[in-house]
Amino acid sequence: MNAVAPNPLPAPIGLLAELTHRCPLRCPYCSNPLELDRRSAELDTATWQRVLAEAAALGVLHVHLSGGEPTARQDIVEITRTCAELGLYSNLITSGVAGALDKLDALSDVGLDHVQLSVQAAEAANAERIGGLKNAQPQKFAFAERVTALGLPLTLNAVIHRGNIAEVPALIDLAVRLGAKRLEVAHTQYYGWAYVNRAALMPAKPDVDRSIRIVEEARERLKGQLVIDLVVPDYYAKYPKACAGGWGRRLMNVTPAGKVLPCHAAETIPGLEFWSVQDRSLAEIWARSPAFQAYRGTAWMQEPCRSCDRREKDWGGCRCQALALAGDAAATDPACSLSPLHGKVQALAIAESALETAPDYQYRTIGGAPRVAVPEGAPV
Ligand code: SF4
Ligand code: FES
Repeated sequence: MNAVAPNPLPAPIGLLAELTHRCPLRCPYCSNPLELDRRSAELDTATWQRVLAEAAALGVLHVHLSGGEPTARQDIVEITRTCAELGLYSNLITSGVAGALDKLDALSDVGLDHVQLSVQAAEAANAERIGGLKNAQPQKFAFAERVTALGLPLTLNAVIHRGNIAEVPALIDLAVRLGAKRLEVAHTQYYGWAYVNRAALMPAKPDVDRSIRIVEEARERLKGQLVIDLVVPDYYAKYPKACAGGWGRRLMNVTPAGKVLPCHAAETIPGLEFWSVQDRSLAEIWARSPAFQAYRGTAWMQEPCRSCDRREKDWGGCRCQALALAGDAAATDPACSLSPLHGKVQALAIAESALETAPDYQYRTIGGAPRVAVPEGAPV
């Protein structure tokens, strides 16, 4: 390995450790890539432990143990223990099904700090249709009950789309009932599998507006009891979000096979060179990886971002969305109202949401391509 020069960059705050792409659920909005890493390609325990030690040395504070389903790894307890020993705050991002409950006590014993549980809907039949797994809902509820019994803080994460937007009030009630401290009402971000399923998932604008009003009312009503984070849908927004906190500024994402990405969808951008923890240290990757350098800062920006006074607030939005919608990862994110493509994107969203019958979901699978392939760089 090469020696690393003193790092002039601020340290990354968070590490998303995608321990595996294996998952018992098949959510049609999964943000994992269309080509999922197989089990045989996954990093071993010792390599993850080395990566975690390098993350701590680099200044990372939070580790999100994610997937796929992270509890599908036999070594999840060992990996979590390593986080605790290194002083890293560990957040388990889990579906709570298929054996997750069996490992929960051991995870708590070794120092797990926080649990984020996905819920697909409040109503069981709908949740199980969306997640593609029968009998998932009772398992999730039992899991949540044990999380709070162990005294671990619980966040529920609900990805919102056409198929469950009517259930936002019920999801808020569910979070209260399960003893969650936080609820994420996260409108779908359209990349990965969600881009493939966009016409099936796109909600109507009046429903989106209603969901925002419901969240605002609930925030007031439940002050001190439940915090509700709201991620509004990009296609109907005025300005985009600072995706991943800005490219190469706050987060590192390590895939199951060890590639280090600036965001979880970065592999959709052709021509980027990703370095792997199998070959280099995390510090070297953070400082020098071509993929991290590609859109870091503002020098790469085109107009209207280049001269926009928001350019260091949202960092031009999402590179992966710019690629998907504009065919150019360096373009202004078309979610931005200042993008020349914004009107077209909104019109498309309205047309898709107006379909009388939503198309069937194309469920996420390992080793199976979606029926309709999304060409890389396909404009809207
Ligand atoms: Fe952000 Fe670029 Fe839009 Fe300005 S033009 S608000 S920097 S995306
Ligand atoms: Fe890649 Fe937004 S998901 S930059």
